[in-house]
Amino acid sequence: MKFFIDTGNLAQIKEANDLGILDGVTTNPSLMAKEGVKGEEAIAQHYKAICELVDGDISAEVLSTDFAGMVEEGKKLAAIHPNIVVKVPMIKDGIKAIKWFTDNGIRTNCTLIFSAGQAILAAKAGASYVSPFIGRIDDSGWDGMELIGQIRHIFDVQNYKTEILAASIRNPLHIIKAAELGADVCTCPLSSILGLLKHPLTDIGLAQFLEDAKKM
Ligand code: G3P
Repeated sequence: MKFFIDTGNLAQIKEANDLGILDGVTTNPSLMAKEGVKGEEAIAQHYKAICELVDGDISAEVLSTDFAGMVEEGKKLAAIHPNIVVKVPMIKDGIKAIKWFTDNGIRTNCTLIFSAGQAILAAKAGASYVSPFIGRIDDSGWDGMELIGQIRHIFDVQNYKTEILAASIRNPLHIIKAAELGADVCTCPLSSILGLLKHPLTDIGLAQFLEDAKKM
C-alpha cells in the first residue's frame, strides 16, 4: 500500500518525506486555505513547491463545478508538473471531465466518493484514483471500511485498474484496516502516520535496553 500525506503544509510534508516512506501528497481546497494560499499564481507556486519536495503523485483539486471550467483548470494544474494528478469532484460534470482528462493523457483522482456506485462510474470514466472518505462515513454512523472492501471486490472482479485511495483517514487503525482490505493507497494526516510508530512496550523495552547497556 502506498502512503500519501493529506495536507498542504510544507513542513509536515517534509517531515513525512524525511521518513523515507512517502509516495505522494493529496490536498483539497480546505487544506490549501488552511495554509493561507490565495490566488491562482500563489496556488500554482504552492503546488510546485510540494512537487519539488516529494517525488510522487500530487493531487491538486479543481474549484470549478462545470465541465468546461474543470477542463480548463485541470489543464493548467497538470501543466505545473508531470506528477500533478487532477482532483475532480464526484458530480455529473466531474465524470465527463474525468473522461476528457483520460482521453487527453491527464491523470485524475475522483474525490468525495461515498458509495460503490460512484466508484464504478469514476473507474469507467478512467480515473487513476478514487477517493472514498472513510472518516466522514464513520462520522455519519456508517462503516467507512465496508466501502473500501466493497470497492476492492468490485474492482478485482471487473478488473478495473483505477487505484483505491482511502481518504479522510483519522487514526492509525484506519490505516491498518485499509491495508488489510487491500486499499492501493492511504492518504493520512501526519499524526496518523506517526501514530503507527507508537507502542508502550517499545518504549519500555528500549528504556530497559538503554539501562542495561550502561552495565556493558
Ligand atoms: O483530502 C480529502 C480527505 O482526506 C479529507 O479528510 O478529515 O477532512 O474528512 P477529512
